[in-house]
Amino acid sequence: MKKLLPISISILAATLSATAADWTAAPAAAAADQLSFQASEVKEPGKFPRNLFTDYSIPLVSYHLEREPKDFYAHTELRKHPSLAEYQTVHYVPFDDWTSGFFPGSLWYAYELTGRQDMKELAEKFTNQLFPVSYQTNTHDLGFMVNCSYGNAMRLAPKEDYKDVIVRTADNLIARFDPKVGVIRSWDFGPWNYPVIIDNMMNLQLLFNASRITGDSKYRDIAVKHADKTMKCHFRPDYTSYHVVSYTPDGGIESQGTFQGKNDDSAWARGQAWGLYGYTECYRETKDKKYLDQARNIAKVIMDKNTAPDLVPYWDLDARAAADTPRDASAGAIYASALIELSTLVPAKEGKTYREYAEKILKALASPAYAAKVGENGGFVLMHSTGSLPHGSEIDTPLNYADYYYLEALLRLRRVNAGLPAADWASVK
Ligand code: GLY
Repeated sequence: MKKLLPISISILAATLSATAADWTAAPAAAAADQLSFQASEVKEPGKFPRNLFTDYSIPLVSYHLEREPKDFYAHTELRKHPSLAEYQTVHYVPFDDWTSGFFPGSLWYAYELTGRQDMKELAEKFTNQLFPVSYQTNTHDLGFMVNCSYGNAMRLAPKEDYKDVIVRTADNLIARFDPKVGVIRSWDFGPWNYPVIIDNMMNLQLLFNASRITGDSKYRDIAVKHADKTMKCHFRPDYTSYHVVSYTPDGGIESQGTFQGKNDDSAWARGQAWGLYGYTECYRETKDKKYLDQARNIAKVIMDKNTAPDLVPYWDLDARAAADTPRDASAGAIYASALIELSTLVPAKEGKTYREYAEKILKALASPAYAAKVGENGGFVLMHSTGSLPHGSEIDTPLNYADYYYLEALLRLRRVNAGLPAADWASVK
């Protein structure tokens, strides 16, 4: 008994069990079973499940974009159709794909939600396979890849080695910051001079964590500069955001538009989610009220524009509101996770509105309309997300990041109900 004591203490400290009345217990248990099945299907080391291969037709894509089909015949960006053998099978990606950190991250959350030791072992196994990401320099997605995996590992089962991975990755991420431009560069491809996407707000948590680990404020300072300039250049007067802003070499605006949204002026559903989540996080990390105001304004416009009956948004908030319009469960999960945190940072009455909205989304996602049966859906927890409709890519498919933010939202709800802060990144140091 004496020998077992330290182990049980660490389990208690790392995981947060549900009370009998907590509705999150059943979906969390089902998600853990599903992820265990998904892990058992991975046959090759260094491969991570991302989505199911889907197909598209040009008439369907143009119908949802409300544009003429002829506009697409010469469209060079449309994705290759999957082969018949691939169709509806799991698309596995290597470590350098932007989504590689989400599967290990979901395993960490499943461990935290259920206390299952097998989840922890799987989380460690898949996290360790991402080690090479810390040497990657050609993308801003490093925060997604390493914080969701190694960042959560540091919270739940910390090891000194993980710190090196996080700090080396953060060094590579800040190397993409050009002081003359004032933001971290997102992509190294495409027609733009210096493209920055709203998604980049999500890479900042890695930098806040790296500053806590090292005691060096340089990572955090760059995160703040990035958030400030993005606030100025990505947002329209109604607080919806452009997806892609490209800058001139001296930091002026070259262009404002979209890559994955319906059109340059629309509110791409997931883009609004990244902004909401990012500014909520910046307020938590800095206590600078301008970020809180920004998050509240984004929350308001999302809630005004999201007309989906169950609140799981259409893929673009300006898409046709119709039964056949593809949803984006990933955006819904991110709204829920961000709003649960935001609900704790504002006065109680306003907080209640965010919390109820988030819970409505989460209950929809946990229902059979979105949550797959264990053993189906390629082992993904949720169905019905959209990756990039204008590219014919990942339309109405599971996506590993929908699962990640859904589990995170369930956990945040449970933490808030237990009187804990929604997010626990302050423990990474
Ligand atoms: N970060 C890419 C996406 O949200 O699709």
